[in-house]
Amino acid sequence: MIIFDVILLLFFALIVLLITVSIIYNTVKLGISPMPSSNKAYLAMMQLIDEVELETKAGSIIDLGSGWGNFVIRIAKRYPQREIVGYELSFLPWLTSMLVKKILGLKNLTLHRQNFYQADLSSASILVCYLFPQAMEKISDKLHLEQVGVNFLISNNFALRAWQPCKTIQIDDFYKSPVYLYDITNRER
Ligand SMILES: C[S@@+](CC[C@H](N)C(=O)[O-])C[C@H]1O[C@@H](n2cnc3c(N)ncnc32)[C@H](O)[C@@H]1O
Repeated sequence: MIIFDVILLLFFALIVLLITVSIIYNTVKLGISPMPSSNKAYLAMMQLIDEVELETKAGSIIDLGSGWGNFVIRIAKRYPQREIVGYELSFLPWLTSMLVKKILGLKNLTLHRQNFYQADLSSASILVCYLFPQAMEKISDKLHLEQVGVNFLISNNFALRAWQPCKTIQIDDFYKSPVYLYDITNRER
């Protein structure tokens, strides 16, 4: 009996170790951890989506780096008539979000385990992200080069080079973190 308990314990320790190694590996490789946005940031991002939702009508809402799915799941429930898409490369966060999507039966949510820099974003009308400065540089280049039909980009905390935000919400947190709304059709380069 004790041997069985020890084997079980070792099995769980191995799983925890694999999960930890996988998350650390992807964090180093991608330059960012799958840490979700704060609840206050989600509320601000959602407020901005609400404000531009009618203007954009059709077209998908895409989360660039959807992590554990916290945000895509909220918006898929909030806008059942819209196509919501998440791109996530880190395996465990992606798998978790897929499981939650299946359990909740969210048919309007598509989750790709794919690098969003290489993704075709032409179906998007709103992009959302919570990334880091170098990633924002690459997104800026992608939007400029590919001339995709994106209307708006909402970024938690990190600014988008070459565009002026049309609205900024300062979250009521310790850092007064900004959430930016960019009108992508109106670039000021
Ligand atoms: C800070 S999390 C944000 C999660 C979620 N968007 C949110 O706001 O709660 C950023 C996620 O982007 C993912 N990521 C970074 N670069 C990526 C890339 N090139 N393609 C796909 N996912 C990427 C990371 O694995 C991480 O899970």
